[in-house]
Amino acid sequence: MTTATSTRIFSGIQPSGIVHLGNDLGAIQNYVKLQDEYEAIYCIVDYHALTSTHDPNLLRERTRDMAASLLALGLDPERCTLFVQSHRPEHTELAWLLATVTPVSWLERTPTYKEKRETQPDDVNHGLLTYPVLQAADIVMYKATVVPVGRDQAAHLELSREIVRAFNHRYGNTFPEPKAVFTEAPTVLGTDGVRKMSKSVGNTIDVLAPPQVIREEVVSMVTDTQRIKRTDPGRPEVCNVCQLHRFFGEDYLEIQDGERTARTGCVDTKRLLADRIVAHYAPARERYLELMAKPALVDEILAAGAARLAPIAAATMAEVREKMGLR
Ligand code: AMP
Ligand code: TRP
Repeated sequence: MTTATSTRIFSGIQPSGIVHLGNDLGAIQNYVKLQDEYEAIYCIVDYHALTSTHDPNLLRERTRDMAASLLALGLDPERCTLFVQSHRPEHTELAWLLATVTPVSWLERTPTYKEKRETQPDDVNHGLLTYPVLQAADIVMYKATVVPVGRDQAAHLELSREIVRAFNHRYGNTFPEPKAVFTEAPTVLGTDGVRKMSKSVGNTIDVLAPPQVIREEVVSMVTDTQRIKRTDPGRPEVCNVCQLHRFFGEDYLEIQDGERTARTGCVDTKRLLADRIVAHYAPARERYLELMAKPALVDEILAAGAARLAPIAAATMAEVREKMGLR
């Protein structure tokens, strides 16, 4: 772990109950890679999750489950810091302070807020509106400059930068502007082949699920909708199954060629993808099951992560309180 603040990175992930292929290809693989290149801090954002999850036991379970999943997928507590957002309650204080430099109009035009108003119209709580301010607080608490995320987070990162500028303008240069970094798969489409893979849509491939579940999810995938008969030539450029093969074998061009020339059928190509995804994630699934059998170990790792961050959070809060005139 390096110590220069200019090379600190931060990312957050909701304890949503599953890790899907979009999370892994779009974000988590970058978390794993970047822990060797930067001082990396990763956060399970349970405060954010409260804007949509209201069952306390479920939230508790999912938080540990997400920790076990991230560790199983390659986060190493020796090389990065993994913690739970609510274990550093300074995040909520900083969010309040940043809220006072954030115009409501910026929050009302955030795409995720507009979406949530549609998807949970009976629960448009204030937390949904202020969600990006808490996200900005997460990042700037540690003065992180690089934020590995999927493309769907680009608008939130833009807003984080605007909040940083507004704060620095009012109170003097305090926070660096964070920037998003993406993987080769910044937007993974779901099994429907149309929408972004997402738990709330229900079009996911759950990478740590039992092999049978993964197979069923992959076999349910929508392929090239214009390829009706087995002998019709396929269009791998629009087929989500063909596109995903890129990430699971060197021979994806050959696979795409097989589809284009109708040498192979969609079902074969899906079965092959299912086999490869199952094989790729088998070691992680094994580690995940081992970790879930040792909840005390997972909790210990999370507690150590939060403790390690205490001095950084304290320093930021002291600086911000001083600059803002709190005594
Ligand atoms: P979430 O589950 O919404 O907290 O997302 C965790 C991380 O996965 C974030 O960085 C997201 O941008 C990323 N992510 C979620 N869904 C996808 C997707 N379908 N494709 C690529 N990245 C994604
Ligand atoms: N909003 C992010 C998501 O839904 C999660 C998140 C919270 C986050 N705080 C963050 C991501 C800080 C990056 C940096 O995926």
